[in-house]
This record gives sequence, C-alpha cells and structure tokens, in this order.
Amino acid sequence: MARDVLVLGGGGREHVLAWALTRSPSVAKVVTAPGNPGTAELGPTHAIDPTDPDAVAELAARLGVDLVVVGPEAPLVAGVVDALAARDIPAFGPVADAARIEGSKAFAKAIMEAAGAPTGGAVATGDRDAAYAALERFGPPYVVKADGLAAGKGVRICTELDEARDAVDDALVRGLFGAAGSQLVIEEFLDGPERSVFGVCDGTEVVLLEPAQDYKRALDGDAGLNTGGMGAYTPVPGFTLSEVDHLEDLVFRPVLQELADRGTPYRGLLYAGLVETTAGPKLLEFNARFGDPETQAILPRIGGDLGELLWQAATGSVAGAELSWQQRAAVTVVLASGGYPGSYPTGVPIHGVEAAAALPDVEVFHAGTRREDDRLVTAGGRVLAVTALGATVAAAREQAYEATDLIGFDGVHRRSDIAAGV
Ligand code: GLY
Repeated sequence: MARDVLVLGGGGREHVLAWALTRSPSVAKVVTAPGNPGTAELGPTHAIDPTDPDAVAELAARLGVDLVVVGPEAPLVAGVVDALAARDIPAFGPVADAARIEGSKAFAKAIMEAAGAPTGGAVATGDRDAAYAALERFGPPYVVKADGLAAGKGVRICTELDEARDAVDDALVRGLFGAAGSQLVIEEFLDGPERSVFGVCDGTEVVLLEPAQDYKRALDGDAGLNTGGMGAYTPVPGFTLSEVDHLEDLVFRPVLQELADRGTPYRGLLYAGLVETTAGPKLLEFNARFGDPETQAILPRIGGDLGELLWQAATGSVAGAELSWQQRAAVTVVLASGGYPGSYPTGVPIHGVEAAAALPDVEVFHAGTRREDDRLVTAGGRVLAVTALGATVAAAREQAYEATDLIGFDGVHRRSDIAAGV
C-alpha cells in the first residue's frame, strides 16, 4: 500500500524532496511543514515550527502519515526524530544524539578518528592558549571552526596568524557565536576540490547517491563570501558513483559502526563533505541531512523509487537496495537576493517562474519565496534553484542558464560559472 509522507522544512531541498517523493510509486501523498509556495503545488502545507518536536509529533500523529522525512539539521538537533520515535512514527533522519555528527564539529572529528576514516589533523579546545598553540602547529592557511551550529558563519579560514588569533578571540573571548563557539576546532587546511557524497543509512548499511559538486562562494571564480551553496552539478567526472563505491568501506560503514558502538545508531542521510587532496579523499565535515542545493541536482536524476529507499532506511534495512539512475546530467543554478549572504531585502516581486519551468527538462525549486496576495515575492537569501537535465553536463548547463534568464526580480544575483568547463 502506498504511503503518506510528511516532509519537514521549507527550503529548496525540501521542495525537491517533496517533488521526488511525489514521483515515487510507493508514495501516495506528500504534505510539507511549513513548506513553501513550491511544495504547496504538490500537496497540503502546515504552518508549524519544524524545530518544535512536540508540534511536529502532534502534526504527524494527527495527519496519520506513514513516514516523516526531515530536511534541515535544526529539527534533527532539536530532537524531532526522538519525539516521533516516542510515538512510534517512522522518520528518515537521525535522533539528536546521532545528529551531533553535524551539531558538534569536535564530536564529528572524534568519530572520524575513532573510525579510522581519512581526515586532516585537528585540535578541539575551549582554551585560548591551546587554540593559539594549535594554530602555530598546523600553520597557514589557518582553519578556525566554532564547534556548534552557527548559521553557516562559524568557519573562518585565515592566511595571517593575527587574523586567525582574532577569530579565536571572537569565539572564546567576545562570545560572538554564543554557546556554539565556546569550543573551537582548529584544523589542518585540506587543499583540493570539495565533493559532496550522500549516503542513505539504516544504522549499519548504506546506499550511496550520485556525488555532486557544490559551489559555496558567492561570486564567480570562487570569489566572495561563503554561502549555503550557489549551484551544483552531477555527475562529477572522475568522481561518479561507480568510482566512489570504495567510500562505503573507507568512510561510511566504519563511521556507522562507531556511532552504533556508542549507542547512537545512525538512520538517515549522512552527508560526507570530502576534499580530493593529492593524498586521496579526506573528510572535511559531516552533515546529518541532504545538501542544499546539491539535492536539487541529484534527485531529478533518480530513475527509481526514492520513497521506498527512505522507508527502508527508516524502518528496516537498505542492504542490497539499489536506486536506478537516469544516464543524464543535471545542473542547478541558484538565484539569490542582492546582498546575500549579507543582508538583503525581502518581499521583492518575482517574475518568470512559470515561463522558466515550462522549458523542457527544467524544474524550478522554491527556496526563499512566499505568496503575498496573488504575487510571488522573495522571502530569503537563496530564492530559487533552477535545475535542468541534459545529455551532458554542458547541455544541462546551457538549459539551466536559459531558464534562469527568464526569471527576474530586483537585485537578483546568480553565479555565471556553475559547471563551466566540465
Ligand atoms: N551545500 C552545502 C550544504 O548543504 O551544507
């Protein structure tokens, strides 16, 4: 019997999750909370706070959904999956203790090291002198990370020692990140291209998804400030699914074993942020959820039943499970508000979404939008994620940019080099 699924969250990642689940034969209905104008076209939306465990569990019970798929990290860290488990409602996402793999960078490093997974050296400390000593030990470029979730602002990479010491003082002396910065992780800098590899995990076993390349900087040529991600493409030449299957044994299974041994088995999406160094892939970080906007590029390539795979991971085993993939490429270009990732206006009218979405092989995913009366307006930094499929990355790229050319709003900003030269 087909299942009803509640997707938690309201960004571009949640729109593409809801979209892919709607297309899954095992799924009857998709509802979102709080959702956005894009998910509202797929099914009902419910205006609750997704980080309130009791409100989420209450809603899921009232709707009688079969599965809850948690999009963002904040509800996971807040214990939403624990609250659902207390009511025997299956959820795709880790419990709060396991979500610490994203919620605490020191915890993540400890797990990587204990599991023997390849990563750079690091020192976790809340002591200023120890942090200063670690900076000297690793040398430039200096990497200073707040231990906890700091809204994407907790990582500083500095070329000068004085600047790095200032970053330490911002967190430990001036308390810029509050409790999230009361511990720091000082890391060895990992040099090389970053790759995103997602594993659907059942506590022991993993099914890897096609890797993607993310673009984190705001401006072309990887200039400007770090953002949540300005675009993505898949497949990544030289780093395709069949070329990274060794990561199951090198990274995913040992990490799952380590978490299980500590009494916190990990069910959900484990996102390995890797750097391809000259010494091979090394782990930069883990996230406890799908990446945004990589997911908007990856999921449209799925040929099989995503809903069934997430159900298996949440309730049983993914051993032997496989997803089929379309032999097509996907490119996603993010349209952001002017000023993002700094301050930006909201409520700006958006034009052209329907025309762009009407192009062949194009999907427009809503990230930061809302409806005001009958108008679609901006409501966030990343506003829309435009994905196109094509026979090659170059063909998908051309179509994605053609689609973004049809969309406009005052101050719109996009990178023009997503998937360029691939
Ligand atoms: N695109 C990076 C992330 O989702 O964290």
